[in-house]
Amino acid sequence: MANYKLPEPKDFLGNIHGKNTHLFVLTNEFGMQIALTDYGARLVSALIPDKHGNLVDVILGFGSIKGYLSAKEQYHGATIGRYANRIANGKFVLGDTTYELDLNNGPNSLHGGVEAFHTKVWDRQISNFKKRIDFYYVSPDGEEGFPGKLKTHVSYELTDNNEIVIRFRATTDKTTVVNLTNHAYFNLNGEGTGDVLHHLLHIPSEEYLPINKNQIPLGKPHRVQDTAFDFTSPRKIADSISNQKEEQLQFANGYDHGFVNTQPFSVPAASAYSEQSGITLDVLTTEPSVHLYTGNFLADDLGKSGQKYLRHGGFCFEAQHYPDSPNQQQFPNVILQPGEVFASTVIYRFGLKK
Ligand code: BGC
Repeated sequence: MANYKLPEPKDFLGNIHGKNTHLFVLTNEFGMQIALTDYGARLVSALIPDKHGNLVDVILGFGSIKGYLSAKEQYHGATIGRYANRIANGKFVLGDTTYELDLNNGPNSLHGGVEAFHTKVWDRQISNFKKRIDFYYVSPDGEEGFPGKLKTHVSYELTDNNEIVIRFRATTDKTTVVNLTNHAYFNLNGEGTGDVLHHLLHIPSEEYLPINKNQIPLGKPHRVQDTAFDFTSPRKIADSISNQKEEQLQFANGYDHGFVNTQPFSVPAASAYSEQSGITLDVLTTEPSVHLYTGNFLADDLGKSGQKYLRHGGFCFEAQHYPDSPNQQQFPNVILQPGEVFASTVIYRFGLKK
């Protein structure tokens, strides 16, 4: 599909729970453009020239606020919080108190609950000559069952090196847990062009996080060697996703697993490439894992260009802490104390191979 366009700002004018919604556009010198909305502090589009010189929108999403509100898949491009991914049985203990969250994913709490960060209209400030936008949200003490008033700040910057730099910051007034991520679905051939199974992935992780049938990590990272999780050399998703012997893939209906990130921030923790468009994507992050999700449950939603987003129509590289960390003390710390600042950065860097 050649020459995509950004959605129209007028189609993002709305009012949700008394707050107005908008579409914002950032551009760079290379001709890359991204669109964002304050509804869920989310990425709506990223237009980038492919190897044929066509502008391709590599992010799945919808052309209007209404589209986001009626979609079955609610997390497209959104900021996920307070706790990205799953917390087993929706329960965790801090000090002497057990906190109980709503279960919105079988026996688990997923992505911070039903009315979590992806459903909020964030305050915003645009700066730096349309290169950066800052979103703010204050989550009240007890919201969705989590302790502490959490002041959250997420900024998106588009650099002239074709990078989307996302910075997350949070502070609390009570001991709490926090795990923030971005949930963009990518298709490097363009959203709505079918599945991503022929994308090549390169993930240097030596270990990944196996899960149980409820998709909760078993507790210890496993080596990727000789498994369907070995992307230490570039490999097509299609080459291993249908590996019938791999029970792990059956539990999740595809890839939906954390890869342990030991790369320094300057080195990609995960990369993808599509030969068809020539577009490459590198993910650089300060977070201890990159969660690969191959859109296993996508179905039915009609995307921006009127095409259905079917299973595997996009993939996510979610830079984050390990799922269920509040219940698994051996995992990297997700507890935030008053006086501390939670800070993490993820860079989605695009390139072209001709
Ligand atoms: C999770 C999936 C879930 C999806 C929902 C991903 O981050 O890992 O299991 O179905 O989000 O969009």
